[in-house]
Amino acid sequence: MDILFCSSEAYPLIKTGGLADVSGSLPKALLQLEHDIRLVLPAYPAAIQQAEGLKEVSRLTLSGCDDPVRILRSQLPDSAVPLYLVDAPSLFNRLGNPYVQADGSDWPDNAQRFALFARACVALALGQADPAWRPQVVHCNDWQTGLVPVLLSQEAQRPATLFSIHNLSYQGLFPAATMKALELPDTLWSIDGLEFYNMLSFIKGGIANADWVTTVSPTYATEICEEEFGYGLEGLLQYRSDRLTGILNGIDADIWNPAADRWIARRYDVHTLQNKLFNKFTLQRDHDLPISSQPMLLGYVGRLVSQKGVDLVLDIIDTLLEQPVQLVMLGSGDPALEEQLQAAARRYPKQLSVTVGYDEQAAHRIEAGADALLMPSRYEPCGLNQMYSQLYGTVPIVRRTGGLADTVVDFNEQTLGDHSATGFCFDEDSPEALLATCLGALNLFRNDRVDWWKLVIAGMHRDFSWTSSAARYSELYKQVIQHPGEESRTTSLDRPTGTSRASSAQQTGQRLH
Ligand code: ADP
Ligand code: GLC
Repeated sequence: MDILFCSSEAYPLIKTGGLADVSGSLPKALLQLEHDIRLVLPAYPAAIQQAEGLKEVSRLTLSGCDDPVRILRSQLPDSAVPLYLVDAPSLFNRLGNPYVQADGSDWPDNAQRFALFARACVALALGQADPAWRPQVVHCNDWQTGLVPVLLSQEAQRPATLFSIHNLSYQGLFPAATMKALELPDTLWSIDGLEFYNMLSFIKGGIANADWVTTVSPTYATEICEEEFGYGLEGLLQYRSDRLTGILNGIDADIWNPAADRWIARRYDVHTLQNKLFNKFTLQRDHDLPISSQPMLLGYVGRLVSQKGVDLVLDIIDTLLEQPVQLVMLGSGDPALEEQLQAAARRYPKQLSVTVGYDEQAAHRIEAGADALLMPSRYEPCGLNQMYSQLYGTVPIVRRTGGLADTVVDFNEQTLGDHSATGFCFDEDSPEALLATCLGALNLFRNDRVDWWKLVIAGMHRDFSWTSSAARYSELYKQVIQHPGEESRTTSLDRPTGTSRASSAQQTGQRLH
């Protein structure tokens, strides 16, 4: 099949989180299944710099950009995946994070930027940007590509569309007046269209108009149909549930493999686990912690935001560090959380190291050197770090939600007995539950090392490759190409009765964009 994969980030060109890992690895896996899959991304400076042999395929005049937009062609580095870059310098030639400015606030013209990107994707989808190629299906990802299925739904002859939700709380919400600024037809402004509590919602457009909707784990697919995780879109998602599928992300074993990892101090596999201890010592040395096998070394890698339960870690830090525990944290995000963690690190220089920033190599070294990985997320559409950690023999401690519930097998008598246990899970969103689970893990680590190693080894034997998930996407592509469904499938069910979900989410400090 001919597939256009639209994303706002892809590893190694540009990455802020798991979406980049998926966009950099799923197309590779689909290519192996012999599809003609091509990736399209905005031409950020980092992407232009890394993409080799860029060639101009066309120049387009698109609404929302005064200058002609160049469509450039190259390949995703270290792969044979064809890559298109949408070059609109006034919108994308900006250094740093693709979505936010240096002070952490959104780029003020994000609606214009990603509407323009969507229009370029639509031109590719209709064979207008690269006359030599016209896809049968367009796979969109997250709110930044939400307008693609909307704009395509206005076309008589269009490819099938699939929209993947990687995180429902990032919605691409903009003031109502943006509709006009983006020159979107008035007919789309309704509760059955792009309107969401008097805001323009990009993600709603994708969910309502795509021929099929997927999300990145089976459990999250169920959760987002409920009020707690639906962020006001649960009604629409319930309505679309016959065409909503949860497909677990896979991971790229060329990049995340302790036996071949170019960034870790010593490579290892299940037969050479003594090398993992060397990586632990290296990690302690790198972070100025006392070098010893005795303490349980916990790792954390990820965005420092409330989604990830970082505040729960802060709540338990004083009690946890009364124990023989060290914690190495790497991440960036909410400035208040960054500040509180750094203050805690100053209080416990021998046990807690906090690095605020983004460092790919350090992330690998934490996965390799830690004994256990903390991931107490409030919600987690899929989560990749807990999969990486299992393959690295680093036992995950997670909240049982979304993809964490689908990928970590909780330690108990039965799962230990049948050798399926790979980690520790807790249910309640509370510091007490997290602390009790960490202490349970510590008890096993200190007093029952044989059972601990069983968890380590079971995790290292898990198969988190893309093989089966890429095959499931393939089946869905085939299905939507054969049965694309009606042109427009919107509903008025997105307004749950009772309190407004959008405003209650804002009141409780949850992040909606
Ligand atoms: P999310 O996409 O919600 O941020 P995931 O677990 O799916 O969470 O993916 C996060 C990805 O980003 C992982 O590959 C992780 O290693 C990486 N990552 C997150 N924060 C950092 C950081 N500060 N430095 C390096 N890598 C990071
Ligand atoms: C999102 C989610 C994360 C998921 C990633 C890739 O950023 O927060 O859980 O793993 O997308 O799908």
